[in-house]
Amino acid sequence: SKQNISTILQDETLCGSTISISGWVKSVRQHKDNVFLHISDGSGPKHLQIIASTQNLPESVTFASCVRVQGELKESPARGQSVELVADSISLLGACDNTTFPFGARHKHSAEYCRDFLHLRPKTDSFASLLRLRSAATAAFHSYFQKEGYLYVQTPILTSNDCEGGGEVFAAEPAYGIKESAADSGSDSEVSQESQDGKKHFFSNPAFLTVSGQLHLEAVASAVSKVYNFGPTFRAENSRGRHHLSEFYMVEAEVAFLHSLDQLIQIMEDMVQETCQQILTHHQAELDFYLQRLGTQKHKEFLERVVRSPFARLTYTEAVQLLEKHNHRFKHQVKWGDDLKKEHEKYLTQEMGDVPVFVTDFPAELKPFYAKANQDDKTVAAVDLLVPGVGELIGGSLREDDLDLLTCRLRPLGIEEQYRWYTELCQFGSSPHGGFGLGFERYLQFILATPNIKDTVPFPRWSRHCQL
Ligand code: 4AD
Ligand code: MG
Repeated sequence: SKQNISTILQDETLCGSTISISGWVKSVRQHKDNVFLHISDGSGPKHLQIIASTQNLPESVTFASCVRVQGELKESPARGQSVELVADSISLLGACDNTTFPFGARHKHSAEYCRDFLHLRPKTDSFASLLRLRSAATAAFHSYFQKEGYLYVQTPILTSNDCEGGGEVFAAEPAYGIKESAADSGSDSEVSQESQDGKKHFFSNPAFLTVSGQLHLEAVASAVSKVYNFGPTFRAENSRGRHHLSEFYMVEAEVAFLHSLDQLIQIMEDMVQETCQQILTHHQAELDFYLQRLGTQKHKEFLERVVRSPFARLTYTEAVQLLEKHNHRFKHQVKWGDDLKKEHEKYLTQEMGDVPVFVTDFPAELKPFYAKANQDDKTVAAVDLLVPGVGELIGGSLREDDLDLLTCRLRPLGIEEQYRWYTELCQFGSSPHGGFGLGFERYLQFILATPNIKDTVPFPRWSRHCQL
């Protein structure tokens, strides 16, 4: 049945009925001849209070053990809960050895400490809450795009391209060499043929884990107009900061018939505001619980402001002019042509009034080959959305649809041949189009004020950390 602790706590009509429910013990408290248990099945932030007579309680029912309880739901005289379960029977489903279990009932463990026990971390209340909010945010993005008429497209994880040209791709080859299966021999001997680089590759060319589904999305958008994906992406970056993972989820959209960066910016702003509003409206109790656990209740006011007020906007050139005036504050001095560092992003969002900021029209050298050239021959129609507390949340651009200009970007990189299929999109009925990619874990940091990105994903991967 659909019944869980969360639905039970919300359904007053259940009072007086007999139910049985399973969950994990969050606390055990003795009072005279009675024992009070709080149990959770992870369905929501609230625990169900169980009252049993001490003699009914198996001795091994301890903190974090797994139990099944049967009894009658009664209106609770205590504050802070509407119902409680008066237990007839409590059975132990799985004991928990509290002498070796890393978490304690009364402890508030630090995020760093919990990260040492990734397999047990979901058992902490705050991480379970994060998981529910992550799931809710996932649904919010899907419902935004579905409502707006986008097609959900699954782009490949294995690919031959390095979309961003950053050289931060993980290789994808058989770990133990290419095996020739006896059954296939003869028919499929091309499997082990050498490729142009003189090496043997499973796919005959080097293959990687995708850094972005953008180029594939562009191919599909140029036939069905509006598409999005939401999948894992991989970057072999060596940065281990608070905003980087080796494996992260990206929400990417690609839209045909876009004639200006303004239109793209409007979509980005709508998407961020509507998904945030969705969380604020439909997951209020969960959000409150999570923020309260992190001690950042004030963050909700910030979010309420984000969904109400238009985001700020300035060009890269304006941003650099602003930053140059304050260069004495920064570790890294900026001048036109430089990439913005975290400290600059932070300064810009603060300076613009603690709101998300669109930075547009970057120097061509700072953006990949696909970004559409502006008339000035120096900048491209690219946009980053910077948000308070996180920095870059979204990167997007109009895409170059002029074959000559695109070829001019690809040729010096020596990848003209490799991207032949991509340039063909310009030749067979191209449309002016554009798109963007949002880092989903950074989005969670933005809406939840989570200091470290490693605490927004169930099993984070970063340099030297991929043990389980
Ligand atoms: O700015 P990026 O590199 O843009 C792209 O990959 C485009 N092809 C997307 C597109 O236009 N379809 O990455 C997009 C976003 C960044 O703004 C950032 O939020 C996130 O992905 N991101 C990371 N998140 C966590 N860990 C990392 N190592 C990240 N690298 C990028
Ligand atoms: Mg970027």
